[in-house]
Amino acid sequence: MIKNPLAQDPETMPIWEFLNKLKRLKPHEPSLGILGFLFITVVCFLSCFFYLDYRIVTKGFRVHGQSQRFMWLGFDVTGRDERVGFLAEGGEGCDLFKGDWVWDEQYPLYQSKDCRFLDEGFRCTENGRPDNFYTKWRWQPKDCNLPRFDAKKMLEKLRNRRLVFVGDSIGRNQWESLLCMLSSAIPGKDSIYEVNGSPITKHKGFLVFRFRDFNCTVEYYRAPFLVLQSRAPAGAPEKVKMTLKLDKMDWSSVQWRDADVLVFNTGHWWNYEKTIRGGCYFQEGEEIKMDASVESAYQKSIETLINWLGGEVNMSKTQVFFRTFAPVHFRGGDWKTGGSCHLETLPELGASLVPSGSWSQLNIVNGVLLAHSNKSQVMQMDVLNVTHMTSRRKDGHLSLYYLGSKIGPASLHRQDCSHWCLPGVPDAWNELLYAFFLKREATRTHSLREPSEAQI
Ligand SMILES: *[C@@H]1O[C@H](CO)[C@@H](O)[C@H](O)[C@H]1NC(C)=O
Ligand SMILES: *[C@@H]1O[C@H](CO)[C@@H](O)[C@H](O)[C@H]1NC(C)=O
Ligand SMILES: *[C@@H]1O[C@H](CO)[C@@H](O)[C@H](O)[C@H]1NC(C)=O
Ligand SMILES: *[C@@H]1O[C@H](CO)[C@@H](O)[C@H](O)[C@H]1NC(C)=O
Repeated sequence: MIKNPLAQDPETMPIWEFLNKLKRLKPHEPSLGILGFLFITVVCFLSCFFYLDYRIVTKGFRVHGQSQRFMWLGFDVTGRDERVGFLAEGGEGCDLFKGDWVWDEQYPLYQSKDCRFLDEGFRCTENGRPDNFYTKWRWQPKDCNLPRFDAKKMLEKLRNRRLVFVGDSIGRNQWESLLCMLSSAIPGKDSIYEVNGSPITKHKGFLVFRFRDFNCTVEYYRAPFLVLQSRAPAGAPEKVKMTLKLDKMDWSSVQWRDADVLVFNTGHWWNYEKTIRGGCYFQEGEEIKMDASVESAYQKSIETLINWLGGEVNMSKTQVFFRTFAPVHFRGGDWKTGGSCHLETLPELGASLVPSGSWSQLNIVNGVLLAHSNKSQVMQMDVLNVTHMTSRRKDGHLSLYYLGSKIGPASLHRQDCSHWCLPGVPDAWNELLYAFFLKREATRTHSLREPSEAQI
């Protein structure tokens, strides 16, 4: 049985409730038990504070000379106001990806029950996840403030344009997040529809959602490798069932190369299991590279993307994003051997607590970008460097809550610690996307007045 998720008030937080209850106890008739309990509680609470603070100081990641224990409890005491806005004068150089997750009662930006553009699988609360802490964390860059997301404003700027996500199911996760974020500003949801009438449920290929009143579309193309996957060529060795043509972009690229905004991601399929083990080998030109490693193939595919952008995409018209790999959080196994992230309810609040060993994919992408860094398409591309910030959100995954509200939580042995609950972590990626989008719009229209108004 699962709890009725609607019975849970999203604004309540058990710890506040608990404190309120304590407050309501009458001080005139204290029983010794209650007094003792209170005393012990206060002592525990304080020592937790000091322990945390001590740990932070000794590890050397105090931020802004301010005690992070307050951030831990969500009081962002420096406030967003003191920092310069990313879009304001002086905010240009700010590294948006260096920062912290801070508690913000104004989050989430939408509720999943109000958004019909979501796969059932991403609706954690509706699927029985009891805590909603994971929806309350806002990404706060260290040195500046992000513009507050304004759906109307983004839609207005997308008028008569196409925004396209290309990539794997984590890209789809992000695309659905953006659909919800944008549609939250539209009262009549009938004005938003899939152009071919396709349902949003698990679906291969592509989906194109049109916002009628803005004549804009927000689209998703499934291309988990970005490069072209096809049947093995005639005469290939028998064990070769399919190949990835590392020097050619996915067949669907003709459909989106003229889009106004392109958001790429790839990574989760570049492993042995999803390629060679299943008979999918790597091909360049006519040659099947039987011995090519997955890493070298991944590198080649990123190079192909860069070259393709240089040859096929008008980067003055199209704003191109590459979102880096979003880490998984399977503890004690992987997705098929009982790896776990269930009952993770808090982010990792200190960056250095996160192991960063196995990010070979991030290193490969960084290497390719560096090697091509003087090419204009690379200079113009916006990298959504989300890997580090996302690695701190072990609490944001579907874990058991992806089977739909009728079926209820999955078995403990089949956890999903790679996809993300919505609302949740991908919303933060989209807030970063929004910031870069507005920045580019500001330079495009040479109107610097408007964006600075967007600052908080
Ligand atoms: C991505 O962000 C991390 C953490 O802030 C930083 O260490 C890394 O250098 C960044 N990489 C790029 C390419 O900006
Ligand atoms: C709608 O947007 C498309 C581009 O996405 C454009 O070609 C078309 O002219 C627009 N229609 C109207 C009525 O503005
Ligand atoms: C690229 O796009 C810009 C802006 O839309 C346009 O002015 C230019 O003519 C385009 N260049 C080519 C080669 O199509
Ligand atoms: C990029 O740098 C290489 C050498 O490092 C040089 O040969 C090439 O011409 C440069 N390309 C551009 C577009 O500046």
